[in-house]
Amino acid sequence: MSELFLGIDVGTSGLKALAVDRDGKVLGRGLAEYPLHIPMPLWAEQDPDDWWAAAATAVHAALREVGGGGDVCAVGLTGQMHGSVFLDADGRVIRPAILWCDQRTEAECHEIEERVPNLVQITCNPALTGFTAPKVLWLRNHEPTNYARVHRVLLPKDFLRYRLTGVAAAEVSDASGTSLFDVPKRTWSGEVLDRLEIPREWMAPVAESAEVTARVSSEGARHIGVPEGTPVVGGGGDQAAGAVGVGTVRMGIVSTAIGTSGVVFTTLDSPEVDPALSAHTFCHAVPSKWHVMGVMLAAGGSLRWYRDTFCDAEKKLAVEQGRDPYDLISEQAATAPTGSEGLIFLPYLTGERTPHKDPAARGVFFGVTLSHTRAHFARAVMEGVAFGLRDSYGLLENMGASIGEVRASGGGARSDIWLQILADVTDRPHVRVAVDEGPAYGAALLAGVGVSAWPTVEAACDATVRTSDGFRPNAERHAVYESRYRLFRNLYQDLKARFRE
Ligand code: XUL
Repeated sequence: MSELFLGIDVGTSGLKALAVDRDGKVLGRGLAEYPLHIPMPLWAEQDPDDWWAAAATAVHAALREVGGGGDVCAVGLTGQMHGSVFLDADGRVIRPAILWCDQRTEAECHEIEERVPNLVQITCNPALTGFTAPKVLWLRNHEPTNYARVHRVLLPKDFLRYRLTGVAAAEVSDASGTSLFDVPKRTWSGEVLDRLEIPREWMAPVAESAEVTARVSSEGARHIGVPEGTPVVGGGGDQAAGAVGVGTVRMGIVSTAIGTSGVVFTTLDSPEVDPALSAHTFCHAVPSKWHVMGVMLAAGGSLRWYRDTFCDAEKKLAVEQGRDPYDLISEQAATAPTGSEGLIFLPYLTGERTPHKDPAARGVFFGVTLSHTRAHFARAVMEGVAFGLRDSYGLLENMGASIGEVRASGGGARSDIWLQILADVTDRPHVRVAVDEGPAYGAALLAGVGVSAWPTVEAACDATVRTSDGFRPNAERHAVYESRYRLFRNLYQDLKARFRE
């Protein structure tokens, strides 16, 4: 009998399940999508019951590939961070979850700053619109009837744990993104909860990422097809779990993930805070480690928007040729010159978190002329996202990180041209990892550590993660991008007040 570790990722566009063996090989894989609801511009919600239904579909699909769930000996959960799942006293979902990319809570962030003047000392971060606490306050301020029914507030992956095991538990890396967590002490902050008048008992007991938190219940076992009693470890927020999946678990390693969001991530031995308060300092999924990351909200999300809004022709051709539309868009982008002949894209389609902390920011195409073609637009989107990521490289460097080779992962990192642009813009070599399966892979490794398949998270990464092909920066192209990047930075400053208008 082979031992399998199941990683489950409650993503923004869908839920992914992976069955991974002791050698780190992915033997089974399942994916189920669900809708993202935008009830108002810049709001973003999902139905937690959709995640639960998707878990059954995706896990069953993954288990079919390994001949059933019998060999699964631990489950690790991960998912989109910051989302608020409000449960009533009977464990029922009260309203749709408000997601990480939702921007409705600017007023509540100010309220938090006023009520908790020492918030940064405790949570290591300012209150930001995507985080969880402002959503709880928003519910109190705008939906008092729903608020009166709240018995628990869970993060997306923790909601799945609750349904799978009947146990409400939280975990340090994800809890760090709530604005309610004492990040240096790795525990809920009674002080912040009290000052915000949020009942302490709404927050579930918190565990480390590779610690066993609960076991799959009979109902959970029936639903996803793994044996009843299978241990479920703490898991991690998708960025921390994704970092485990690419081996970013020690100081000195930097990774960039281009999913819907774009994240530049590195490990810290102590909870240091970005003096500009633009990057986030959270607990890592590794005991006694923290991490700092810059999060841009629309990285892969910008290219997806571009594809869905402008690329019907590429989509049609892709179907005819049995290819992925993104491959065609990448090929097109590669034909436009470095710098897209002056066309610059500001990727702030849902406002921006790092570095601007500005829910009012908006996307912009700047410098359009008659000579610009679709190829220029596609390339400008990729370059704009690379400039946005470069902002985060700068923040991490200001905090003392030395950035050598960067591990790139996520859907966006599958594009050769996009990785080359990123290497050229940042003047840093970028490498891929041999198995790029995202946060679900890291969650599966954490599950393995939880049942002692590996002694530590670091050992799990050493045994399984390998880097593969790489992209080296080119000095001439970097010089072109230096001047473009300055313009990119100035454009936001010039437009900042106009965005608010
Ligand atoms: C991290 C963040 C996003 C979400 C989406 O702070 O908001 O990366 O976790 O996946």
